[in-house]
Amino acid sequence: MKERIDLSKVPKHIAIIMDGNGRWAKKHGKLRALGHKAGVLPVREVSEAGSELGVEYITLYAFSTENWNRPKAEVDALMTLLVSSIKKEIKDLKKNNIRLQAIGDLSSLPSISQKTLREAIAETADNDGLTLVLALSYGSRYEIVNAAKKLAVKLKNNEISEKDFTELALSNELYTSGIPDPELMIRTSGELRISNFLMWQLAYAELYFTDKLWPDIRKNDLYEAIYDFQNRERRFGKTSEQL
Ligand code: IPE
Ligand code: IPE
Ligand code: MG
Repeated sequence: MKERIDLSKVPKHIAIIMDGNGRWAKKHGKLRALGHKAGVLPVREVSEAGSELGVEYITLYAFSTENWNRPKAEVDALMTLLVSSIKKEIKDLKKNNIRLQAIGDLSSLPSISQKTLREAIAETADNDGLTLVLALSYGSRYEIVNAAKKLAVKLKNNEISEKDFTELALSNELYTSGIPDPELMIRTSGELRISNFLMWQLAYAELYFTDKLWPDIRKNDLYEAIYDFQNRERRFGKTSEQL
């Protein structure tokens, strides 16, 4: 599959909703937390595959603002897994020249998670290969409201005028400021929804859904999604003939 990919047309930014850990655990007669644990290897697979192909950004939906409503034991297990996985993977991130970043309401994470994340981000800041963006305690509506509020304050303080309230200005106030919009969004586990993920940024993304559960995802699945993407016609409102 990898050989069929046109390296001159690889998406710069791929966003992924990593879904199906719980169902994977159930299928294997394990606890949900073990499903999440099994979801770490695919993160490495997808990051390495993306790196090798020259993808610039991969954003992974790891924890949504809505996920706080899960049972406390599961939330705790996810937060613990975040810290242990970052500690375990940091060496490989460095080896693969991957830069770690995070988006979301990071201040709502437990302080140990914040600290581990901050350190890993700092330790990989000079890497100039793939940027791996973790969406943690992330919610798109919250992000947009927050961005609008920041512009409103600037307007009130006369730092900007009404005509400066543009799409670009709002984009620049989002967590993803400076990151190009994803061209491809992948969701695993057969669910066909966005679940409050990057709603502004995905405006013109190609959507790709697979029934495979996240813990079963390997490099080849990313290749397949990219190959599918490369065979779509992105018209951006124009007619086919105009392209
Ligand atoms: C995705 O897997 C991981 C997170 C949301 C943190 P789920 O835990 O949602 O798995 P399912 O949807 O229950 O199978
Ligand atoms: C979305 O998955 C959030 C993450 C993958 C982190 P969910 O499994 O929580 O989404 P819904 O609630 O079923 O749509
Ligand atoms: Mg789910």
